[in-house]
Amino acid sequence: MATLTKHIQIHFFQPPSISFNFHFCNHRSPSRISASLSFRSPDSRFIEARKLVDDFDPEIPLEKALTPPSSWYIDPSFFALELDRVFYRGWQAVGYVEQLKDAHDFFTGRLGNVEYVVCKDNNRKVRAFHNVCRHHASLLATGCGKKSCFVCPYHGWTYGLDGILLKATRINGIQNFNENDFGLVPLPVAMWGPFVLLNLDGKLSSKLDVDEDKVAREWLGTCADVLRLNGVDASLSYVCRREYTIDCNWKVFCDNYLDGGYHVPYAHKGLASNLNLESYSTELFETVSIQSCKGGGESKGDDYDRLGPEALYAFIYPNFMINRYGPWMDTNLVLPLGPRKCLVVFDYFLEASFKNDDSFIQQSLEDSESVQNEDIILCEGVQKGLESPAYKFGRYAPSVENAMHHFHRLLHRNLTK
Ligand code: FES
Ligand SMILES: [Fe+2]
Repeated sequence: MATLTKHIQIHFFQPPSISFNFHFCNHRSPSRISASLSFRSPDSRFIEARKLVDDFDPEIPLEKALTPPSSWYIDPSFFALELDRVFYRGWQAVGYVEQLKDAHDFFTGRLGNVEYVVCKDNNRKVRAFHNVCRHHASLLATGCGKKSCFVCPYHGWTYGLDGILLKATRINGIQNFNENDFGLVPLPVAMWGPFVLLNLDGKLSSKLDVDEDKVAREWLGTCADVLRLNGVDASLSYVCRREYTIDCNWKVFCDNYLDGGYHVPYAHKGLASNLNLESYSTELFETVSIQSCKGGGESKGDDYDRLGPEALYAFIYPNFMINRYGPWMDTNLVLPLGPRKCLVVFDYFLEASFKNDDSFIQQSLEDSESVQNEDIILCEGVQKGLESPAYKFGRYAPSVENAMHHFHRLLHRNLTK
């Protein structure tokens, strides 16, 4: 794995401003839709939450800083503000390009209260829509797979993979109805390397022609090349997915990831023996932090080397992690399910030359899962501690927890815009 490029200057991107309405008017296209979607809540709901945001001061240097207060991890109004400001703006990783290899491939998902479907249409164009039927709001598609059209399971309204309403069943006698106004509501979609990204910002939904270089700059800042140079690319083969529902706020999982290896010798003794923790280092970019650590612990005495000579752990604000080590890459997508619950989706990718080595794959997945199980116990314990009246805020260990501080500063900035 190539050595990491040094980059320590930090610039913050301005998030796009808020917007509430979708309004489209092209003839005979799914974008000819006038819809007032209000998945963003009115700002008056956030008055209390905004006060909590100010309980963290991002200007205090790391050595003197207090962590965000426990209310950031517990309070329902703060959670609602986060959905609105953090997750309904900017580009969000939602899947990987291998899920859309062929025409008619699709996958669905949910972020906050936004249900989405991403597909490859008849012309192999990747498209994304709100996964909601325009008749009476039934969810349209479920899971993933192949479809030549989307047929609503409720009353059979049928949409093309380009979002156009092809058939509205049993509507004889309906008046003032134009089927062109009832296509699926589109979402901007983009791809970078092996990943599929969506932008749930209503303001951008009329701008479906996406400049992917611009998206890469917005999503990764200047570290896109660093990731590419370190083997984060679309040449890796997809292996499998593992999902974990964890009883903790989504940020508890992120914080755990961003402590610069601080917890590894205490909580992951098996992993620690295969890493040279003295070599652990962290680099901060605009909206990304990259931790890296050399391998070189005790060998198991055979050819098994899951971690390779250097491991890279990239955190892409707000909730996506890319881990590249040995022949492996795994990604962790942390989806907020509520103030005290999140879903973490692990996707595993492997260099093609290892694709048929079943025992290596199985052993690697077992080792990865045991680390993950150790982290789940930690995260659920932290959530309980955060809810205790004894705890209000904590401190940072300056030599290792700078990426965590960076994350909290980005979050503060995002929540105050
Ligand atoms: S809700 Fe989809 S057809 Fe009625
Ligand atoms: Fe861990």
